[in-house]
Amino acid sequence: MTLMTKTKSIVLPPLPYAEDALAPTMSARTMGLHYGKHHRGYVDKLNALIDGTRFAGTTLEEIIKATHRNAQQKAIFNNAAQAWNHMFFWNSLRPSGGEPSGMLAKAIDRDFGGYETFLKQFVDTGAQHFGSGWVWLVAGKDKLAIEATADAVTPMAEGKTCLLTIDVWEHAYYLDYQNRRPDFLKAVAENLLNWEFAAKNLAGAQH
Ligand code: FE2
Repeated sequence: MTLMTKTKSIVLPPLPYAEDALAPTMSARTMGLHYGKHHRGYVDKLNALIDGTRFAGTTLEEIIKATHRNAQQKAIFNNAAQAWNHMFFWNSLRPSGGEPSGMLAKAIDRDFGGYETFLKQFVDTGAQHFGSGWVWLVAGKDKLAIEATADAVTPMAEGKTCLLTIDVWEHAYYLDYQNRRPDFLKAVAENLLNWEFAAKNLAGAQH
């Protein structure tokens, strides 16, 4: 007899570091709630929404691209995109931070006039974004660009290559920084960005 086991099509990926590894920039309490409740919540809700639909058994990327800009499937898109965005966000960070090097450092100098200018523009774009959303470093055809997206919207859905992101929803910073979103963005951008991850994303886009 074969037992049918119900498998969830989308899984919550493990954090790439311990929950307290990004403190004090992001506290273990924030990480516990942000990853353990918010991120997990999007994954759980998505699995409930796609159960028994044509999306069951497909990948997050496929779901996001198929439901992008489809008003009928807004709930599926929102939860799928938030699941992907959070996974991408955790990988955009690392405890040791650092600065870009090699080809990526050259591209940042070329497109932003230097690393310090990039950091300021990245932080300012996230700080000035109205409401919930994300700030991204993306690679276009010939140049890098910074953009902010609202709510769950992700540049990936439009076929853009994402290099790094920071979550600017209030749940990302309120416990540690209260209403001071610019302080949160500055601290994360200066201390936690994973430029190796960004370089891998850039290299992947060029193949
Ligand atoms: Fe978040």
